[in-house]
Amino acid sequence: MPIMASHIGEENMKTLAKRALIASIFLCMTSGSVAAEEEASDSLRPNYLLTASINRERQSLSGAWTYSKDLYRTGLTDIDGRPAKPRLQRYRDIDVQSIEAASGIDFLEFDMDRGPTMMVPGAWNAAVPELRYYNGLVWFQKKFTPTRTTDGRAFLEFGAVNYRAHVYLNGEEVGTHEGGFTPFVFEVTDLLREGENRLVVGVDSAHDDQTIPTPITDWDNYGGITRPVHIVYTPRTFVDDATLRLTPDGLLTGSVTLDGPEANGTGVHVAIEGLDAEADVTTGSDGQAMVSIPAPDELQRWSPDAPKLYDVRFSTVDDQLEDQIGFRNIEVSGSDILLNSKPIFLRGIALHEEEFGTNPARRITPQAARSLLGEVKNELHGNYVRLSHYPHARVMTRMADELGLLVWSEIPVYWTADWDNPEVLEKAKRMQSETYFRDRNRASVILWSIGNETPVSEDRTAFHTALAEHIKALDADRLVSAALLVEGDEKNGHPLIRINDPLVDELDVMAVNSYAGWYGSNTLDELPSIEWDVPEDKPLLFSEFGAGALAGFHDPEGKQKWSEEFQAEFYRQTLSMIEKIPNLRGMSPWILKDFRSPRREHPVFQNGWNRKGLMSETGVPKIAFGVLADYYWKKMQSEPVSIESVE
Ligand code: GCU
Repeated sequence: MPIMASHIGEENMKTLAKRALIASIFLCMTSGSVAAEEEASDSLRPNYLLTASINRERQSLSGAWTYSKDLYRTGLTDIDGRPAKPRLQRYRDIDVQSIEAASGIDFLEFDMDRGPTMMVPGAWNAAVPELRYYNGLVWFQKKFTPTRTTDGRAFLEFGAVNYRAHVYLNGEEVGTHEGGFTPFVFEVTDLLREGENRLVVGVDSAHDDQTIPTPITDWDNYGGITRPVHIVYTPRTFVDDATLRLTPDGLLTGSVTLDGPEANGTGVHVAIEGLDAEADVTTGSDGQAMVSIPAPDELQRWSPDAPKLYDVRFSTVDDQLEDQIGFRNIEVSGSDILLNSKPIFLRGIALHEEEFGTNPARRITPQAARSLLGEVKNELHGNYVRLSHYPHARVMTRMADELGLLVWSEIPVYWTADWDNPEVLEKAKRMQSETYFRDRNRASVILWSIGNETPVSEDRTAFHTALAEHIKALDADRLVSAALLVEGDEKNGHPLIRINDPLVDELDVMAVNSYAGWYGSNTLDELPSIEWDVPEDKPLLFSEFGAGALAGFHDPEGKQKWSEEFQAEFYRQTLSMIEKIPNLRGMSPWILKDFRSPRREHPVFQNGWNRKGLMSETGVPKIAFGVLADYYWKKMQSEPVSIESVE
């Protein structure tokens, strides 16, 4: 029996109307109308944001879930595409054992109640040996009793499910989601019942030419419910979203959005703990109000040296949303990146979303996030991380806020995509929107990357350009970049590497991946003499460079690839090569730790691991770790420490 009132019907109607809108706007985009772009961007806004839900009353559904493999997707559709046969529909709200005990004619070919179990969140690749390389559909079930049954609303919130999710509650379809790295929310107020509830999620990790990313990547396709699942409880009218940021001209501006029967014409009080900065606003007919408060002089800006976060509260008579927000400015001036109006050099490293250990499950707990990012901050003397090649768990960006690390955030447009397919472009934009709306209050996130290593072609550049316009229309605050491929050439008998990519014009910050000295024919001692031909009117980052090494494998002469010494020398020579580039403003070498990849099968040196880590998979530093740490330590000494309040 339903326990609370809600709007699921309305929700589907809203989604359908928006889809029709997208189609029509996509056509006018070719005429580049900014207004159309803004509307299109807003149309990809998720239905519910539940901003800062970590500070809300919520029920964790983490723990043991039962599961059932479904290689031929029989639980979704029958062989001819018709609906699945009832005896195979894993999401049915039935007690299979009692049906079998009744020994009627009915029989079933599943029983989610008596199935094997695995821990959620986490990937099945690490949990079940027979699923190590399984790409396909697996059904998961969690039975739970709601912790709150009085009036109000309830939402099912997923941190991420890789890749497609089919969600059912008590036998009813709740919704679907596509994309392995972004959050999604469904209202379940009407479906939730007293006592035991049955949540079933069909997780399909398969990729194809129309997915993002496409099937071939250099990382393991971790399938499953890879991030936490919660029931989030709210009042009938609640603060669904609220933002606040510091503008270059010293204002704290943002917006607050209410959802519910009292959303329109309702007062919201905005207050910042510890600061004399308050405002009272009233929502309009769309349940939204804009906020603008002069930034008090004593406001301390967020920076890696002083990652000051403020408790910001948005309160109505019925509800309160609280978020921990840092206030900072980020901009480009010529070839400089300015943080709080001061030039900054990004001392970084790239990471995959994979915890330390010999059998990672892409389970990023706060402890796992702290141990990964702590290495960067405290051991490498870094102030920046490239979270590659997809949006990492929100615990990572919140941890970066707390520890003081700047963040490059990326959507997995990686190597290839179905460039001239409008639906694929919309998927990429939706992933970008979901990431933006999740992380827009994170001071640490300064760069949105719209892709990695995609070969130059007209339809590829048009695709990326549309993405750049999309994110710029959404976010006037942050910088846009992409990890570009380079071209090798010769000049006066000397090797030359150039950026020759029309996409540069769309980017605020250029970034290149370079593997000279590892892939290709250059020897390490040639590296410093390599000339770089790059546009100089923008900041340049090295988003990747790296060499493989098996921790513990040594060659004192440093000649042998895979040895720690070779990797260390690769770093020394690469650093001296790129140091000479006048507009170099940062780097994120590839990569903090060895990570799982099905493309790496050398039986002695790799065994399914990409070995370009500066640390082994268990966190043992290789010699090169020290080389980079020294380099960053010296760089840090030469930079002024930035602890400022607003002038
Ligand atoms: C590429 C790519 C990475 C990959 C790396 C490598 O540049 O962006 O995803 O892992 O090279 O070859 O190790």
